[in-house]
Amino acid sequence: MEPVILPNIKNLHTIEVYEAHGGYKALRKALGMKPEEVVEEVKKSNLRGRGGACFPTGLKWSFMPKKTDKPKYLCVNGDESEPGTFKDRQIFEFNPHLMIEGTLIACYAMGIKTAFIYIRGEYERWIRMVEKALMDARRRGYVGENILDSGFSTDIVVHKGAGAYICGEESALMNSIEGERGYPRVKPPFPAQYGLWGCPTTINNVETISNVPLIVSNGWEWYAKIGAPKHPGPILVGVSGHVKKPGVYEMPTGVSLLEIIYKYAGGVPDDKKIKAVIPGGSSTPILRGDQLEGVCMDADSMKAAGSAVGTAGLIVMDEDTDLIAVLARIAKFYHHESCGQCTPCREGTGWLEKILNRFVRGEGRKEDLDLLMDVANNIEGNTICALGDAAAWPVQSMLRRFRDEFERRVLSRPVEDLVA
Ligand SMILES: Cc1cc2nc3c(=O)[nH]c(=O)nc-3n(C[C@H](O)[C@H](O)[C@H](O)COP(=O)(O)O)c2cc1C
Repeated sequence: MEPVILPNIKNLHTIEVYEAHGGYKALRKALGMKPEEVVEEVKKSNLRGRGGACFPTGLKWSFMPKKTDKPKYLCVNGDESEPGTFKDRQIFEFNPHLMIEGTLIACYAMGIKTAFIYIRGEYERWIRMVEKALMDARRRGYVGENILDSGFSTDIVVHKGAGAYICGEESALMNSIEGERGYPRVKPPFPAQYGLWGCPTTINNVETISNVPLIVSNGWEWYAKIGAPKHPGPILVGVSGHVKKPGVYEMPTGVSLLEIIYKYAGGVPDDKKIKAVIPGGSSTPILRGDQLEGVCMDADSMKAAGSAVGTAGLIVMDEDTDLIAVLARIAKFYHHESCGQCTPCREGTGWLEKILNRFVRGEGRKEDLDLLMDVANNIEGNTICALGDAAAWPVQSMLRRFRDEFERRVLSRPVEDLVA
């Protein structure tokens, strides 16, 4: 399949080249449709969110109230802070107008007059690129008052984050835009009822939104036929770790992980064996290298294998990888990024890090294995947002699938000796 989100077109990031290749035609087409027809088109396409949870986008849009006297908002989530994830920034750099066009169509479909594109603070270079693209789109009459003489008006604001992973969580993101501390909110109420400043709000990932112009211009039937039937479309897979050609690859959903690693990313350096992969960003459960046969990058296949598509940030680890060191590093990240609001996450992530560091130092105890699982189990499902789950899943899956690694690192000496 030829790439459609990141096609190989020189200078596509400029508005002239984007327009020359059919850019903003989908917006014109959408403006000629009824808003509810656009929502229906997206629903039928079966587009599922690329921000982590694979939630059906059209369904999410349909939760927005049609009649309300409050303003409605769209937040395009470009916080992109999950370790192993670096795909949205490719859109910012190489095809920002596709995202802007998708944002405009989404706003039209849901009757939204203000959209925020939330970009992580460290992405300074990409923030400037998106701002430039937005300025050009505004000058051409695509953004602002009475867009293309349709009578529809929408403004788009770029909002810079301040370097917190938690601000990618949709309700923390809204608090951050409001100028509050990035604490996730208790749900319900859900954003479609009570979002930004208490008004109806939809939050979508950058890549999700970038699929929208493709659906509108080519039709839902075209889109629904790409890749895995229940989770269709093009997907950006970021491959990192022990591969010869790390990078972001566009492909249809449903490609097997082994094909991604060996065909797209050139295989493992020195032809070493794959010990493990983290398929969809650091929070998704780890898979053993010997269980990858037939596992594909789509929601159903990944679920059946005991993991998740997440953000499709595939991290490959070869046979020489110290998985305990990897897990300890992941635990350090979640401990550092926990906002501290919920006790199980605030305390539990610290305990996970501490216990894992014992193993890294060669001081792990036999009873620590059950303790690790116990701490992870007590975090999972007991927090306001899914950061707690994100911290627990790698630990639980590593203990289930690589218990032998831990057992090998358990001290043979009794604890009393160590204390003495
Ligand atoms: C701790 C945490 C961090 C998140 N970070 C991001 C992020 O950086 N980008 C993103 O799109 N979604 C992120 N999400 C998911 C969002 O809450 C939300 O589900 C997503 O933006 C919805 O977009 P989608 O429906 O288009 O996938 C995060 C969730 C959690 C719990």
